[in-house]
Amino acid sequence: MDENRIVSAEFTENDIMTDYSLRPKTLGEYTGQEKVKENLQVFMTAAKNRGESLDHVLLYGPPGLGKTSLAFIIATEMGVNIRVTSGPAIERPGDLASILTNLNKGDVLFVDEIHRLNSSVEEVLYPAMEDYALDIIIGKGPSARTLRLDLPPFTLIGATTRAGMLTSPLRDRFGVINRLKMYSPEELSQIINRSAGILGCEISQEASLELASRSRGTPRVANRLLKRVRDFAEVKGSGDITLKVARYGLDMLEVDEIGLDGVDKSILETIIAKFGGGPVGLDTLCAATNEERVTIEDVYEPYLIQLGFINKTPRGRVATKLAHAHMGYAYNGSDAEQTKLDISEE
Ligand SMILES: Nc1ncnc2c1ncn2[C@@H]1O[C@H](COP(=O)(O)OP(=O)(O)OP(=O)(O)O)[C@@H](O)[C@H]1O
Ligand SMILES: [Mg+2]
Repeated sequence: MDENRIVSAEFTENDIMTDYSLRPKTLGEYTGQEKVKENLQVFMTAAKNRGESLDHVLLYGPPGLGKTSLAFIIATEMGVNIRVTSGPAIERPGDLASILTNLNKGDVLFVDEIHRLNSSVEEVLYPAMEDYALDIIIGKGPSARTLRLDLPPFTLIGATTRAGMLTSPLRDRFGVINRLKMYSPEELSQIINRSAGILGCEISQEASLELASRSRGTPRVANRLLKRVRDFAEVKGSGDITLKVARYGLDMLEVDEIGLDGVDKSILETIIAKFGGGPVGLDTLCAATNEERVTIEDVYEPYLIQLGFINKTPRGRVATKLAHAHMGYAYNGSDAEQTKLDISEE
């Protein structure tokens, strides 16, 4: 994938400082995801009133929607420490055992990319999540014994872009499962205004909405576009982000009016022009666009599906009437056929 893709929702090196400084610190600062926030608020209050740790929480959804931010906020709101790790970083069961035994009562253990835990590590996690216990095997062969160690009650927060790739025993051990949704332009505009305030730049309401509607429903993209457009405003304008300078910057960055860039367009173009609108198998699409399977599935497709441009069907991907219109092609499929299609995600 193009590392410098401006509208990529994925985390890049350049996002380190932005993600940190612009990250909302409290539930109040966390815009949108109203349902998720409302539920969490109830569960957190109840747990606090009972003096217990919060039940394990699974957060899932496409990159850049605020999973990591929310995990940190939960720890802050619960008034506990957070220990951060990730699925691929925990290589052996012993690594997880040492993390678990070092937790304090009520702490949050945040495991990013939890779908990438290996199965021997997962085995250790099951009793830890369910009974706050660690089963240690001592010795080898017939004389081996299991020793059960008690752990302090803790909250596991798992984040993943791929809930479908979680094993069901692991998934079942989460008491709270939240799916993060893409943000509306109004919500993204609020996020942009807050970020502009932190960065100390002036942005007009129209400019903020313009950026918002090209941010693919994703706060990380919104913040990135804001920072780049601010550069254009400082160098080519007076410093303030007006609608004019925002449009100019976005055009220079080759982000179209609904946030699509060259790769999205080549995906749509492939389905429409080379395969008559589809269905096209995912592998064929990968070969034709030179992108990896996971990249298409995790990074490009969610937004194209959200826009109603692509449908997933058992026989492959189909470009809709809307996609044809946006790309300037005549549509000759039937609408009846479109509505019959299976668009379920997992
Ligand atoms: N609800 C929100 N309100 C305000 N800003 C947000 C919100 N969600 C995300 N952001 C901004 O977007 C950035 C990316 O969010 P975050 O790192 O939490 O996403 P993520 O879902 O963990 O992404 P990934 O899947 O890549 O790990 C944050 O640093 C923050 O600036
Ligand atoms: Mg994250």
